[in-house]
Amino acid sequence: MSESPKPTRYASWTTGKLPLPELAEMKRRGDKIVMVTAYDAPSGRLADTAGVDLILVGDSSGMVVHGRESTVPVSLDEIVFMTQWVTRGAKRPLVIADMPFGSYEESDEQAVHNAVRLVKDGGADAVKLERGGTSVARAQAIVGAGIPVMGHVGLTPQTATVLGGFKAQGRTAERARELVEDALALEAAGCFAVVLEAVPPAVARAATQTLAVPTIGIGAGVETDGQVLVWHDMLGFYDGRAPRFVKRYAEIGEAIADALGRYAEEVRSGSFPEEQHTYRMPEEEQAEFEGAPRPSS
Ligand code: KIV
Repeated sequence: MSESPKPTRYASWTTGKLPLPELAEMKRRGDKIVMVTAYDAPSGRLADTAGVDLILVGDSSGMVVHGRESTVPVSLDEIVFMTQWVTRGAKRPLVIADMPFGSYEESDEQAVHNAVRLVKDGGADAVKLERGGTSVARAQAIVGAGIPVMGHVGLTPQTATVLGGFKAQGRTAERARELVEDALALEAAGCFAVVLEAVPPAVARAATQTLAVPTIGIGAGVETDGQVLVWHDMLGFYDGRAPRFVKRYAEIGEAIADALGRYAEEVRSGSFPEEQHTYRMPEEEQAEFEGAPRPSS
């Protein structure tokens, strides 16, 4: 890459961090917002280098990193740690920490307490929570405490059981209307953007045209204000079944398996390590060392 892929025309650029109000400006200008998940410092650094605008420390980590079958068991501590790691690597992108299931459902107080933890201990710039319903009041309470909130409607993995599984949402006119209303309610609560997951393009189009704040799609077609993909899915680094909306931009899993296979072969054959991988000692020291009697055990 010879030229930096980072857009440089931010009106309010100050310290190198993408300013949050710039997202609304990007929507107004029609500049697409690029978001990806990340879970550690090298990934945060690579996303920053590639010019990604938003990084989500998603609870998808529960499945793609930690091998669980759902996102439900992910804990707040896990998200706090991963957010610390990602923010050490990513400087320009806004880092959004996912509020895991059980960290905001009980009360506005619980939601504010845990969102503050993600910002203070994790270093997150913003938080994300799922669903409409009671999450609207939670979002409003967190925004009221001074923390930016991203909403998330459509397929909401934390409540996939209620939705009948990991299935596309909004495929009836009634459910489509509900989803747009949920997105509007989250905007009214103060959310700075709303993720639309696994919904037909007609639903995404209606939400994107109705909302003043940006929509970020995942499996929602091309007409949203931005797109998000899960790191391991898009890089071919997850051996679970990826949803149909995933495009694989690389086959990193295959590259790693190939590299490990060659390493194993070279260790077994004795062709690794080579001369350039080993340390030398001065010859006279070596001669003295090798000529001296060995210490007895
Ligand atoms: O946890 C996650 O990665 C997400 C994205 C799929 C939006 O919520």
